[in-house]
Amino acid sequence: MKLPKKKIRYIAEGLLAQMGLIKPKLKESRESWESVAQEFEFEYHENTRYSETDYYIEKSKLLFSSFGFDPGQFSDKVIMDIGSGSRLKGKYFNKAKLIVIEPLANRYLENLDWSDLNDASAVYSVPAEELIVELMDSADFIFSINALDHCYDFGKVMQNIYEYLKPGGLAFLSFDMHYHSTLGHPLVLTDKGCQAVFQEGGFIIERHSKGFGEEFRKHRDINGYDLSSTCINYWLRKPAKA
Ligand SMILES: C[S@@+](CC[C@H](N)C(=O)[O-])C[C@H]1O[C@@H](n2cnc3c(N)ncnc32)[C@H](O)[C@@H]1O
Repeated sequence: MKLPKKKIRYIAEGLLAQMGLIKPKLKESRESWESVAQEFEFEYHENTRYSETDYYIEKSKLLFSSFGFDPGQFSDKVIMDIGSGSRLKGKYFNKAKLIVIEPLANRYLENLDWSDLNDASAVYSVPAEELIVELMDSADFIFSINALDHCYDFGKVMQNIYEYLKPGGLAFLSFDMHYHSTLGHPLVLTDKGCQAVFQEGGFIIERHSKGFGEEFRKHRDINGYDLSSTCINYWLRKPAKA
């Protein structure tokens, strides 16, 4: 049986990834990100309407719980979602003050009538590479789900996440490790490449894992992030002041 070229490439890249030999790509030009990746992204949200469904919210709850997060864990705390998409996953965390950084936020709000981004305490419709000075040292917890491989400058995003966290604050980052960039995913974030950026940025890597939590895996299907078989996850701490 003859395997299609695409399949052969996929298998070969998977093997290279296992050996840690995939070359990371941590930057893309802002112009290409904006005109290609973000256009692709907006169309995805507009056309699939996946995040419109209650099912999306149920799956979001399952995702957080399977990674060990409790809904009451950040009650009365400031939490931040980087690359929220068109609907707020962060509502999982009861009584938290939720801040969103999402470059398509204004477009989602203007065009998608199900978008609930305005329920957040504050929404910044800018890329996470842009530093928002008023948010420095403000967040107890920052999360980002399936978004960082969609950005254009991983190092800059990580610097800003560090700036936004209070000393001792926690970041949870989950995203796909692609083997090469694609239309909607300009960056190639490998475990090795990311860990170097985290360490250089002053983060303590408390934990990292590959794939989804146990409960979520049982309920995976063909929608959204579920499709991924290559997600990598990090729990990062900004050191408390001495
Ligand atoms: C696949 S969606 C994921 C949305 C949501 N986090 C979820 O889990 O459903 C990726 C999101 O990342 C956003 N994004 C892309 N580049 C970004 C950047 N530079 N800074 C912040 N968010 C970005 C996109 O606009 C998009 O809404």
